[in-house]
Amino acid sequence: MKVLVVGSGGREHAIVWKIAQSSRVEKIYCAPGNGGISQLAECVPIGAMEFEKLADFAEKEAIDLTVIGMDDPLVGGVVDVFEARGLRVFGPRKNAAILEGSKAFSKDLMKKYNIPTAAYETFDSAQEALNYLETASMPIVLKADGLALGKGVLICRDLDEAREGVKELMEDKKFGSAGEKIVVEEFMTGREVSVLSFVDGKTIKIMTSAQDHKRAGDGDTGLNTGGMGTFSPSPFYTEEVDEFCRKYIYQTTVDAMAKEGREFKGIIFFGLMLTEKGPRVLEYNARFGDPETQVVLPRMKNDIVDVFEACVDGRLDEIQLEFEDNAAVCVVLASDGYPVHYEKGFPISGLDQFPGDDGCYVFHAGTKFAEDGKTFLTNGGRVLGVTALGKDLRSARENAYKAAERISFANKYMRHDIGKAIDEA
Ligand code: AMP
Ligand code: GLY
Repeated sequence: MKVLVVGSGGREHAIVWKIAQSSRVEKIYCAPGNGGISQLAECVPIGAMEFEKLADFAEKEAIDLTVIGMDDPLVGGVVDVFEARGLRVFGPRKNAAILEGSKAFSKDLMKKYNIPTAAYETFDSAQEALNYLETASMPIVLKADGLALGKGVLICRDLDEAREGVKELMEDKKFGSAGEKIVVEEFMTGREVSVLSFVDGKTIKIMTSAQDHKRAGDGDTGLNTGGMGTFSPSPFYTEEVDEFCRKYIYQTTVDAMAKEGREFKGIIFFGLMLTEKGPRVLEYNARFGDPETQVVLPRMKNDIVDVFEACVDGRLDEIQLEFEDNAAVCVVLASDGYPVHYEKGFPISGLDQFPGDDGCYVFHAGTKFAEDGKTFLTNGGRVLGVTALGKDLRSARENAYKAAERISFANKYMRHDIGKAIDEA
């Protein structure tokens, strides 16, 4: 089989790496890919939003299956373009990717189908939002309706911050049209868990749990980032939590989408908060998480191509998902100053110290080849994700931090407390 993966981050590197283990796959392409991905796949210089060009390529190369990694092309309808041309593709159509593409849509869906989530109101007028906030209890959460690179969520401690937030999102349009509509949501507290799942329109199969660390600094301080590290499984995702979510959240979401005429095929990523009153959905994503994928896929036993195909063909019920009884920790190596201002273009050393058979892996997020075609250079805020397996979370964490030391580059920055939460479990 020939497989094309669309995307260019650490998540896509992990997806490509997992696909490369399938005995059924003879060639992998990635558009546009990155330096690290090019070691496993042929990278093609087509942007993720160039749908017709991607489809032209898939047709010309007789690609058997295309896997979309990123949210933007899914929400923009890349799957519809592929399907209209008779090309096999894994991911939700535009009318289903709205589960991630519009927070107002997903909140309304949850309300209609009694899926546990925070109480909320939706506004498309700044004045109405401000009027509502006058009497709302604080803290409160403001969310841009549309995609905003994971940054369109503002937690406001008091009325002044909330007023300022409405101005940022709706008047200054900090996230462009994503903020034309906003969701104002009850503030919740609790531990966060990411649960990824495969969905074929009717059946849902849950992968193992994970937890992300979104803030830039140790102790969850500093700005929100694309993710500074992850661990899997989450010790807080207990059997009781799992039972609750299976009863009230997972299948209910899939059935709700089908009832709305928006059959969902692909990945549903449930961002959950474990509150005192039980698990609540914080958000849905219509794709794999980054960097959750970097800890979930190395623990998965199945041939992922079999699972992708079962989803596309609507026979996921035949698949038994299996995960190793171990743990994984991923530490992201970033460029100092990320997510605001950082330099790039520095040579990376130590990558040759990952033979690939010692349970330690490097997934590239932002790298490229130097002109010599041999050395890798830093080429982004998040540069690499170092994943290590271990028999349990503690040993995985120790292995990941040891492995992270094998790599050096100028301005290397990482958090030192990824997985610290497991000590509280
Ligand atoms: P989202 O993109 O909706 O997952 O929001 C990003 C982050 O904001 C989440 O991972 C939470 O840390 C935080 N957040 C979102 N909604 C709430 C809420 N209702 N209460 C507390 N924190 C929230
Ligand atoms: N790690 C969070 C996300 O992928 O949205």
